[in-house]
Amino acid sequence: MVSRCTTIAFQGINAVPVDVQVMVGPGKMGMQIVGLADKAVSEARERVQSAIHASGLAMPPKRITVNLAPADLPKEGSHYDLPIALALMAALGALPGDALEDYVVMGELALDGTVAPVAGALPAAIGANALGKGLICPAASGSEAAWADPDMDVLAPRSLIAMANHFKGTTPLPRPDAKVQEQSNQSGDLSDIRGQETAKRALEVAAAGGHNLVLVGPPGSGKSMLASRLPSILPPLSPKELLEVSMIASIAGTIADGKLSSARPFRAPHHSASMAAMVGGGVRARPGEVSLAHNGVLFLDEFPEFSPQVLDSLRQPLETGETVIARANHRVSYPSRMQLIAAMNPCRCGMAGEPGHTCRRGERCAQDYQARISGPLMDRIDLRVEVPAVSASDLIRPHKAEASAEVAARVARARMIQAKRYGAIGEPTMTNASASNTHIERFAVPDAAGRELLEEAANAMAFSARGFHRILKVARTLADLDGSEQVGRVQLAEAISYRMAGERLAVAA
Ligand SMILES: Nc1ncnc2c1ncn2[C@@H]1O[C@H](COP(=O)(O)OP(=O)(O)OP(=O)(O)O)[C@@H](O)[C@H]1O
Ligand SMILES: [Mg+2]
Repeated sequence: MVSRCTTIAFQGINAVPVDVQVMVGPGKMGMQIVGLADKAVSEARERVQSAIHASGLAMPPKRITVNLAPADLPKEGSHYDLPIALALMAALGALPGDALEDYVVMGELALDGTVAPVAGALPAAIGANALGKGLICPAASGSEAAWADPDMDVLAPRSLIAMANHFKGTTPLPRPDAKVQEQSNQSGDLSDIRGQETAKRALEVAAAGGHNLVLVGPPGSGKSMLASRLPSILPPLSPKELLEVSMIASIAGTIADGKLSSARPFRAPHHSASMAAMVGGGVRARPGEVSLAHNGVLFLDEFPEFSPQVLDSLRQPLETGETVIARANHRVSYPSRMQLIAAMNPCRCGMAGEPGHTCRRGERCAQDYQARISGPLMDRIDLRVEVPAVSASDLIRPHKAEASAEVAARVARARMIQAKRYGAIGEPTMTNASASNTHIERFAVPDAAGRELLEEAANAMAFSARGFHRILKVARTLADLDGSEQVGRVQLAEAISYRMAGERLAVAA
């Protein structure tokens, strides 16, 4: 007799249904798994047999064949243990024959029959819901899965025995609650930073429109400090964004205790990060830092210290908002629409351009250091800001700076205007930075004086076509911050100045 149940395989963040068929038949005692299973799936054999034995069931002295269909879809990971074990229990009569019909099953088994947590419970639950089924998943992943749909049936057993007792009706399992992570504001406040008004303004603009930003300055001027305050002014995720972010976090297995958080992602990988860590991939396809930063911020401190290949691999996600990983047998793609914030010193010794300083290696010091960032990557950065050193006397003087909460309120207002604008064309999560060129040309029409300035600047500075659109995008954000409908000369001038700072830097180098 063949007994069946449904589980899933992940392709990117999508769950594809997989049919688990278990046949107990005559032949030499043992268990065999077929259906393009990787090493972790093949090892399910040992875990399943041990867990069934530990749960007080005797393995029959027969041949057990497990088939994972469709046979041409690669199966990766350890979440196939539980579906195989439950289908086998149904075949052995330990579960009612039709018990598993209405569920998608996922989970890893320990040798003693407890169900261990696995990554991907949220996309699995969403996939199950789309199939019109409930989900059986590990106890630790239950509250994450419960987010998929409040009306959906979610069973989160601790062990095989708990599962059997549920179906027998002796101890029914309660539905797990969808839990939220409490917001903790440990990133510090913007008011801690003395001076640096230009950089703070640029940070506000970046937060308001989702623009990429690079901070350039000597050691100890507060670049890392500025970037670390960014989360305190970013607006929380909208429900749609929250779901997208959590799906990726779930696949990567980074959701703690099944609690989702509405805080915008802020990822700060170290500069030794490898290509696989940054864009994803590896032996088992996993989302990288660019995808984990989806709808949030990717902060690269000591920007030129990252390997040039790793930096250039950011070009595709920065442009398209998606990372595609091609593997030998299939392709996966992860959403990666993030905002890049980078911090760097102007040269290797860190002091180029400071009054009274000459680098020991002369002009080459800054030239060589900045050449590590390729032109096309720099072209994708809309806001380039110099962060000069602050003197000790600046720090000693009493100061009164705006708190993060006030800035956050302005940012939230500007984001609201954008949500309304792009919502009207069916793209509520779009920001000025992620808007397409056609959209931005439609929504950021400069007035006559603005157009004149733009023409002059374009002639003098020879913008790339991308540069032109990016200036319009920043100017649109500045107008949104001002609450103004039209993009005027003032906003365009400020937008151009942010781009020029970079050009000046390149010329100085
Ligand atoms: N503008 C500022 N206001 C108050 N404190 C500051 C300021 N700038 C720097 N500091 C102090 O100096 C320390 C170092 O700053 P930070 O790490 O941000 O420098 P950095 O520009 O990132 O330097 P590096 O180039 O070496 O990475 C901070 O922890 C803070 O105590
Ligand atoms: Mg730093």
